[in-house]
Amino acid sequence: MKNKWALITGASAGIGAEFAHQLAVKGWHLLLVARREEKLLELQKKLIENQSINCLVLPKDLSQTSANQEIYNYCQQQGIQISMLVNNAGYGVPGDFDSVDWKTHHDMLQLMLTSVVELTHLFYPNMKNNQNGFVINVASLAGFAPPTAGHTLYGAVKSFVIKFSHSLHLEAKEHGVHVTALCPGFTYTEFHDVNGTRNMVNKMSSKLWMSANDVVSQGIAAVEKNQVVLINGWRNKAIATLVKILPDRLVRFLMQGSVAKFRKR
Ligand SMILES: NC(=O)c1ccc[n+]([C@@H]2O[C@H](COP(=O)([O-])OP(=O)(O)OC[C@H]3O[C@@H](n4cnc5c(N)ncnc54)[C@H](OP(=O)(O)O)[C@@H]3O)[C@@H](O)[C@H]2O)c1
Repeated sequence: MKNKWALITGASAGIGAEFAHQLAVKGWHLLLVARREEKLLELQKKLIENQSINCLVLPKDLSQTSANQEIYNYCQQQGIQISMLVNNAGYGVPGDFDSVDWKTHHDMLQLMLTSVVELTHLFYPNMKNNQNGFVINVASLAGFAPPTAGHTLYGAVKSFVIKFSHSLHLEAKEHGVHVTALCPGFTYTEFHDVNGTRNMVNKMSSKLWMSANDVVSQGIAAVEKNQVVLINGWRNKAIATLVKILPDRLVRFLMQGSVAKFRKR
């Protein structure tokens, strides 16, 4: 992918940083976005030492409503055309709905829902004009799982991202643009440290966990072949299938028992 630029949100850690490593190996130039500038600069240094690519960092808080347009304006100023957009930044908000203040809910929705859609709205038209481009929206197995008590908005947001990606995929395919919803299950990253559930999730079987390396390599392969949705790993695929075919009440009963053990209030 010589001379093509990929924009990755949430590139300072976890799945986003792994996207940066793997896309750099494939020759993509990179624009890395997240809040922690020092982490982005560290990653930039490693990437340009090891690969002959250009790499720019743009520290932004995507829960700020102006951030998406500012990223787009920055690309215009730099003369960069984005050919791949990886909407990845995100976190979980544990606790019951009313125990979390509105600003926290608002920021999460702005980051994981509005920003995903707005960045796509900003960068997709040029991909469509060029008849070439890739959009990867990092959703989650949680988007297919039944609702849980606690983490009240997370599953709803990820379901939205899957549906949105699916609709855009159908529109985009005749314009040479590939759109994929990537749906990992439990993945070793900073995610559970950030939301304070590491001790709880450490009690889960290691068989349920995947590496960011595997999640991302499967995600890149999926968007290259224009797969609409990729659920990572056979265990996660089996869970999604069971959720679809078993009666709702049975699934909810089974989930409530197991989720309650890992619920942070
Ligand atoms: N890990 C899992 O088990 C798992 C499973 C399914 C889906 N996912 C999804 O995978 C995606 C990536 O998560 P991860 O597991 O890689 O977690 P992570 O290691 O905690 O990385 C999250 C990334 O998002 C960035 N971010 C958070 N808030 C931001 C904000 N307001 N503005 C800009 N960037 C922000 C963080 O950077 P800064 O802190 O520097 O801003 C970081 O780079 C998320 O959408 C998550 O929902 C994760």
